[in-house]
Amino acid sequence: MRQFNLTTRLNIKAICIISIFMIFFTMHNQWISYQARIAVLSRNMDRFTAYLQTVIPPEFLIINEESVAGPISLEEQVLAINNKVQPILNNIFMPSSVVKYGVYSSKHKRIVAIGPELEKPMLSVETTWCDIGDASCSGEKSNSVVWYGAQIMYFVKPLTFNNEVVGYTFACINLDRVRQEIFWANTQKLLLGGIIALLIAIMLFQEIFIRLKKDLALFAEATVAGQSKGFESKIPELTPVLQYLSEQTDRMARLDRLNIIGEMAASIGHEVRNPMTTVRGFLQYMGSKPNFSEYKSQLDLMISEIDRANSIITEFLSLAKNKAMHFKDSDLNAMICEVIPLLDADALRYNCHIKLDLNEIPPVCVDHNSMRQLILNLVRNGIEAMPDGGEITISTAYKQGKVLLSVADQGVGISPEDKEKLGTPFFTTKENGVGLGLAVCYRIVQRHNATITVESEPGKGTSFLIKFAAAAMPQTN
Ligand SMILES: Nc1ncnc2c1ncn2[C@@H]1O[C@H](COP(=O)(O)OP(=O)(O)OP(=O)(O)O)[C@@H](O)[C@H]1O
Ligand SMILES: [Mg+2]
Repeated sequence: MRQFNLTTRLNIKAICIISIFMIFFTMHNQWISYQARIAVLSRNMDRFTAYLQTVIPPEFLIINEESVAGPISLEEQVLAINNKVQPILNNIFMPSSVVKYGVYSSKHKRIVAIGPELEKPMLSVETTWCDIGDASCSGEKSNSVVWYGAQIMYFVKPLTFNNEVVGYTFACINLDRVRQEIFWANTQKLLLGGIIALLIAIMLFQEIFIRLKKDLALFAEATVAGQSKGFESKIPELTPVLQYLSEQTDRMARLDRLNIIGEMAASIGHEVRNPMTTVRGFLQYMGSKPNFSEYKSQLDLMISEIDRANSIITEFLSLAKNKAMHFKDSDLNAMICEVIPLLDADALRYNCHIKLDLNEIPPVCVDHNSMRQLILNLVRNGIEAMPDGGEITISTAYKQGKVLLSVADQGVGISPEDKEKLGTPFFTTKENGVGLGLAVCYRIVQRHNATITVESEPGKGTSFLIKFAAAAMPQTN
């Protein structure tokens, strides 16, 4: 089946919506116009039949049935009355194509005159619908004689002569024709309005699409150039969407980098470490020999440098994608308490204080070693960010089904430009830093299907917030 593109689909939707709206609007409008027109016509017709009552002399309807030549037939009587009454009607002009009026003779059961134009055949049709006694009346009727079967609204007033009703004046409105006239008048107007509205809607859609296309092209260029952050779209509603996209693209790019580095780490890490272990062993052996005692300090320096390289490789290896992890439901608070003694020495050295704000939380499904490494790396960064000392707060909480772990310091903070680079392997601003600590943290968070966010204000401090899915609901008592 043919697939329509988005513009066509939107155009079709616009046509449907405008059409439905037009149909409802037309029907409503017609109903209102019809009621208004009928109200005006009814008022006029009532007055008009009353007027006819005053201008038609009732004695005109009395005709001698005998003449010198003998009895006069009914048709001849009607024609004779018509000859007298019709000229009066012909002098009255009723400016409406939906109204007929006339005079009815009770005795002859015939319409004896009709306006605005004489309709001869009508004079020979026997009819009784006007015969309603001596009161005026009005109503609706289908299958009218006067309008050849149409639905009509009629107004009838009696003509009396010597206290006897001899006939009636009447006027009838052709309701079918009124409806038709109103329908066409309204439909033409609405069709025109609808087509204009549709053209405007299609033009607007087209305009929006052209803008959208241009903006997306610009956004794509900015993404390729790595400048999509803070991209302002010409369509303001699109800006937050594009910003979200840009953040997600950044995140994916970062994860991609982590994956590549992780794979590299896995493949070369071990190969590098093995020869290093051999070298370290020999250096240690040589250091213990009296022959090399004069080189003792150089040998120790070499060993410590190899240890440092080794620790970097260990850290690097934890980026590996397939590093074994053993997930199990654990108490995060207990893990934090376990790690703190390892950090206290560091904290003391930098004149820092570690404060705990541990709240009741449900267990989380985590890898024990990874959690230790995560907490150690974050707290170490916090300590290193406060050269003049300060306080680091480690807190836990449970909110909206998530277990939150936060590490906040009062350190130097991170500039917005550096914030973008956090988690990128080997990004460091420290003289002796390697730039793997946060990369490892981001990798751990990713492997736990958790999220990590950073809030930082240069000069005031930084806080890292990690959100884990809870393994179970917390016990509340
Ligand atoms: N709490 C923090 N306060 C200020 N800056 C921080 C903080 N945590 C991280 N950073 C910045 O992020 C950079 C990267 O941190 P990361 O832990 O990855 O590497 P590092 O600490 O420099 O080196 P190492 O690999 O030894 O940890 C740091 O150099 C620092 O600029
Ligand atoms: Mg670090």
